[in-house]
Amino acid sequence: MTFEVQEARVLTSDGKIVVKGVTLSLSKPGIYAVMGPNGAGKSSLVNAIMGHQQYKLEGRVLLEGEDITKLPTHERARRGITLATQMPLEVEGVRVAELLSRIIKRFRGVENTSEALSIARELVRLVGLSDNILSRYFMVGMSGGERKRLELVRVLAQKPKVALLDEPDSGVDVESMPLVAKAIERLRDEGAIVLLITHQPRLFKYIEPNYVYVMYDGRIVAHGGLELVQLIEEKGYTWIAHHNGGR
Ligand SMILES: Nc1ncnc2c1ncn2[C@@H]1O[C@H](COP(=O)(O)OP(=O)(O)O)[C@@H](O)[C@H]1O
Ligand SMILES: [Mg+2]
Repeated sequence: MTFEVQEARVLTSDGKIVVKGVTLSLSKPGIYAVMGPNGAGKSSLVNAIMGHQQYKLEGRVLLEGEDITKLPTHERARRGITLATQMPLEVEGVRVAELLSRIIKRFRGVENTSEALSIARELVRLVGLSDNILSRYFMVGMSGGERKRLELVRVLAQKPKVALLDEPDSGVDVESMPLVAKAIERLRDEGAIVLLITHQPRLFKYIEPNYVYVMYDGRIVAHGGLELVQLIEEKGYTWIAHHNGGR
């Protein structure tokens, strides 16, 4: 399994270049952290990788060697890429159980509805949500922390090859943090390449990333192991950007 982003540049609809040449070459399942301050271009990068209309992507994105740069979003999804958005939106009229079982059937090849539902239930429990949530409308009236965890369940249901997670830890309380970590580990254990975006080091108390990239002003300014997380905590992003990561 390989996932490559080559010289990605992302332009917003008003023509601003917010990602200025990012290359990532990920060749095995694992957790790859992309850390950076607000405004670094992290969300723009993953939205563009997903094919979001608001962003223009230059450069190339390759999944298992196939160039998917020009494919529409649903074709990217069909090939196994999914994005857990920073702010999951409410879907009026579709219940969680119905949505999850539909996804599980399509992406996990499960035919039987009750089997799909039992997988859904297991995933909901994995992230510490109560079974009641299954009968509610997707995201409607849910707290920030519930939304982030339910979004991870939605991603897990897809059994993705590449999971782009945009700040899955933001708005999540301390008690739920290990559950978010568990969901991310499950993704990895099921063989996904996880691109984990975060601007805070706190999630790394619970999971160890295989590799860490630091993004600043649209560029990767440093990359390395867990020691980078420590460095971010001590010195902050601006220092790292100006000292070229100290590596
Ligand atoms: N749809 C958009 N239209 C205009 N500007 C945008 C849009 N999305 C992001 N930007 C701008 O691009 C820059 C990077 O934003 P973003 O990718 O959200 O950063 P991050 O996720 O790292 O906080 C910011 O200056 C932001 O205002
Ligand atoms: Mg963002």
